[in-house]
Amino acid sequence: MPVKYIPYVPNTVEGQAVLDNISRTQRVLRYRDNDKVISKIMRGMPYYEMEKQEQVGEESENLVIRGECLSACAYLKEQGIKVDLVYIDPPFASGADYAKTVNIRRDPKLAEKIKKAEEELEIDELKAFEETMYGDIWQKEDYLNWMHENLMAIKSIMSETASIYVHLDTKIGHYVKILLDEVFGEEKFINEIIWYYNDKFATGGNSMDKNHDNIFLYSKEQDYVFHPIIIPKDKTTTRALRKKVDGKTVNVLDENGNKIYEQYSEKKEDDVWQIGRTISKNEYLSYSTQKPEKLLSRIIKASSNKEMTVVDFFGGSGVTAKVAHDLGRKFIHVDIGINSIQTTRDRLVEVGASFQILEIKDGVSLFRNPQQTMDKLAKLIPGLQQKVPGVGKFWFGALQDSKLGTVPVYVPNLIDGSEKVLDVPAVNRIINEELQNLEINAQKAIVYYVDVDDHKSLEKFIKDNNATQTTIELKDLKEILHAIVVEDEIETKSIKTKEGFEVEITKFVSDRLNQKINDFNEKGNLQAINKGKKFSPITISEEGLELIEYLSLDCENAEGVWSSSSEIKIDKLGYISVNGQKTKDFWNGKISADKKPLRLKIRNISGDETVKVFE
Ligand SMILES: C[S@@+](CC[C@H](N)C(=O)[O-])C[C@H]1O[C@@H](n2cnc3c(N)ncnc32)[C@H](O)[C@@H]1O
Repeated sequence: MPVKYIPYVPNTVEGQAVLDNISRTQRVLRYRDNDKVISKIMRGMPYYEMEKQEQVGEESENLVIRGECLSACAYLKEQGIKVDLVYIDPPFASGADYAKTVNIRRDPKLAEKIKKAEEELEIDELKAFEETMYGDIWQKEDYLNWMHENLMAIKSIMSETASIYVHLDTKIGHYVKILLDEVFGEEKFINEIIWYYNDKFATGGNSMDKNHDNIFLYSKEQDYVFHPIIIPKDKTTTRALRKKVDGKTVNVLDENGNKIYEQYSEKKEDDVWQIGRTISKNEYLSYSTQKPEKLLSRIIKASSNKEMTVVDFFGGSGVTAKVAHDLGRKFIHVDIGINSIQTTRDRLVEVGASFQILEIKDGVSLFRNPQQTMDKLAKLIPGLQQKVPGVGKFWFGALQDSKLGTVPVYVPNLIDGSEKVLDVPAVNRIINEELQNLEINAQKAIVYYVDVDDHKSLEKFIKDNNATQTTIELKDLKEILHAIVVEDEIETKSIKTKEGFEVEITKFVSDRLNQKINDFNEKGNLQAINKGKKFSPITISEEGLELIEYLSLDCENAEGVWSSSSEIKIDKLGYISVNGQKTKDFWNGKISADKKPLRLKIRNISGDETVKVFE
């Protein structure tokens, strides 16, 4: 359970046009008489405990937080932290699953040998498979409810002169603008920025190419920080010099009464920004939906001053945090996915930033991110089948029981934080709507929960209100979620050298990755057979070192907050960065430190981390 709920203050602005088909932060309880709202429950933001995971560099106010936007806002509010500029690029309800390409690294033993052969290879031909990072498939109403809740939470931690940039696309932008008017007030709307990119492949078809995103800019109050954006003009122009006298604009004249002409090679940027979408090679981090630094640089320069705090609650590749750091601002990066936290961490280490990594302890042990956890859950509930005839989409699937027949199973959608707590409105929907919508006769249904508002009153509510013959069994999802995270196996050999200490990784076994690679090979093989082609499967050496992306030694603590004394990151071409410094070397399977290492952390190429504590 959250430690407590923190109210969203201030309330939404009165008198705005509102969307009528969403319930907003209120959990509407309708039952018996389906049109009558019996009670509305207004929860606040769920405040969970926060655990410090790692300290990078000096103590500072910069934060990288793994968790949901909503809980991060609750934490900031509880800590009394206010932010001066918000940029968010939330999922767009685009109907897509975003995936990260995972590249197998070089086997250190063969590195030099294969270097030559690979020099002629295209990057695409490197051995790769994909990992889903997050799903962006929503019902529009659910999305808008979720968005409304997030906007309310964000507003509550904005400083008096803060502004917010909300980055959306043409499919959802107009809906969210109405929410923004409602939450911030129409008079706080400053600009709709059209980010125009004409470097996208033409898609053709019978419509015009969609080559822009919409970014809405709102302020918290009437006064806000703003600096005009000055850009070079295409052509230098000559204009008479003018000045204001008693409120009127007049020409400035020289001593002979002649106009003075000036050349202008710069101008103030308007609200259409032409910036390429393609991320340059030295910026690109294989994070789908990664935005260019140039875009964030404009936003941060226009709407913040040095030392101010810039936050991105859907931080992804960490572009906002990185650019904020470069421009001398403080940063807060929030994201729900482990890949985002790792990508951002490494990106910030490279530029020498100091920050702490925090994790929101909401009781859910995620397998990398909510989407992959949901995918994995389907396999972890014994006997669960999905898409069972007669059992609609609301249900996660069903079990077949020899005595009871088909048993529908409900699992909260971990992608939508509001579903985590099972409360009376949620149970009411199950017993009074969804059980009745079933096209099968269910004797029993299983309802999984992450948190329960009040167990006893929930059981009583079910007893008193269940008009069906179906028995409801409540089950704790956390028991399954705990089993979801299985560690990789690390074997090492440590030696004391003249310079300090050296740890050699002699073997690395990852069942999670092996499974994934086997699936990939099976699929590839099948496809190849169907197309009459040859398929060369991915094979992993006995030592398995090519499955490692990053290693770090902690010589300070054997438990608790991680402090990286020495680290190596292996890029997809096999080159290593040592303590954030890029090199042209390949990894030799070892890592060294000045002091005696107390523990070793290894991150595999899909982002799973395993820690080995030395005796
Ligand atoms: C469109 S991407 C952001 C990309 C980012 N602007 C960049 O340039 O890399 C959206 C991000 O939101 C994250 N996300 C999705 N739901 C979230 C939530 N409830 N709280 C925090 N982050 C979330 C996803 O993991 C994903 O990284």
